[in-house]
Amino acid sequence: MQKIGVIPGDGIGPEVVKEARKVLDAVSKKRNLAFEFEEFPLGAGHYLKTGEVLSDETLQRLSKKDAILLGALGDPRVKPGILEKGVLLRLRFHFDQYINLRPIKLLEGVPCPLKRSNPKIDIQFVRENTEDFYVGLGGRVKKGLSKTDLVLKRHAYEAKFDVGIDLEDESEMAFQIGVITRQGTRRVFEYAFQLAKDKKIGLVTCVDKANVLTDMYGLWREIADEISKKHGIEREFQYVDAVALHLVRSPERFKLIVSPNLFGDILTDLGAAIQGGLGFAPSGNINPSGVSMFEPVHGSAPDIAGKGLANPVGAILSSALMLEILGHKDAAADIEQAVQNILSSGKYRTADIGGKSSTSKVGDAIVARLSRS
Ligand code: NAI
Ligand code: MG
Repeated sequence: MQKIGVIPGDGIGPEVVKEARKVLDAVSKKRNLAFEFEEFPLGAGHYLKTGEVLSDETLQRLSKKDAILLGALGDPRVKPGILEKGVLLRLRFHFDQYINLRPIKLLEGVPCPLKRSNPKIDIQFVRENTEDFYVGLGGRVKKGLSKTDLVLKRHAYEAKFDVGIDLEDESEMAFQIGVITRQGTRRVFEYAFQLAKDKKIGLVTCVDKANVLTDMYGLWREIADEISKKHGIEREFQYVDAVALHLVRSPERFKLIVSPNLFGDILTDLGAAIQGGLGFAPSGNINPSGVSMFEPVHGSAPDIAGKGLANPVGAILSSALMLEILGHKDAAADIEQAVQNILSSGKYRTADIGGKSSTSKVGDAIVARLSRS
């Protein structure tokens, strides 16, 4: 019996999670799997009622789960960032989910904004999730001598920075420090090359900007080489700007991309666009030896919440990704196949791709398809 913590969250979060749960129930029945679900009512409602974003006790209970399935967080009644940072980022950090895995696949029947019809897009995108320019180290200084003490605390290490700046003119300066570590980078490449092996992918594309940010991405490249050799799988290096260009012009050339945190954030939104939109994009925040968390890439979409308009596919594919990581490859493939069949039939489409089907109609169709095959 595997235990799943469910955080429906805000806006369309609960609507799409409900469909993912229906699909999980159907596939469990078909494949004889047993899951125990526990819902955690985190989000705006809970925060406005109790003043609490995420308690230590809840963290404790979540840490006993095998995985977490999350809808989305964020609500117009709450100042931006409180819920998103307080729940999402805190969970990612607490559980040291150092991989952000975002499969970018254009499914048959989904309209693609690229002009060329029907490109074959099927990319495993591995984004580093705890370092780089997102470590939150920075400051602002004015003329004169200033000293800033910055502390970087991670699960595996702690580093102190004493930044002394002597600014000579009247202007103001702001700075942000990017950091990668050997161990932090190594575990990401270990994951990526192992994934390449599992998926029988022969070439790993490593993204960076090593021609300008030479120190950070010099180390990044060194480690990519080391792990590539260790696994006997080829690698190529590409600058982030070139990857952006190629994702639009010839996305089929990529099979597995590994990217530092900041570039990965940007490129995966581009990825969501070419796979048909936010409504189709799944993701996993993964710690291979800890608690991983699966969520659609989209947010809480307050503009369409409560109207039955949300596309549930991103959430449903996120639950398939969860099953895959939990070791249920066949069940995950079943879900993907059912989603693919429903979309290519053209009969069930939500409004984001010009259809008229409601969120639950699409979910029901996928469930029916699963139960039939
Ligand atoms: P969003 O992803 O919620 O919405 C962007 C646009 O895409 C909206 O027009 C929305 O209607 C549409 N959309 C999103 N998901 C859809 C779906 N499944 N089906 C059909 N249409 C869909 O991003 P936005 O509007 O920038 O943020 C809204 C709130 O969500 C904010 O509070 C933001 O901070 C939060 N957010 C939370 C995330 C998370 O929980 N992981 C990620 C991104 C944003
Ligand atoms: Mg983003």
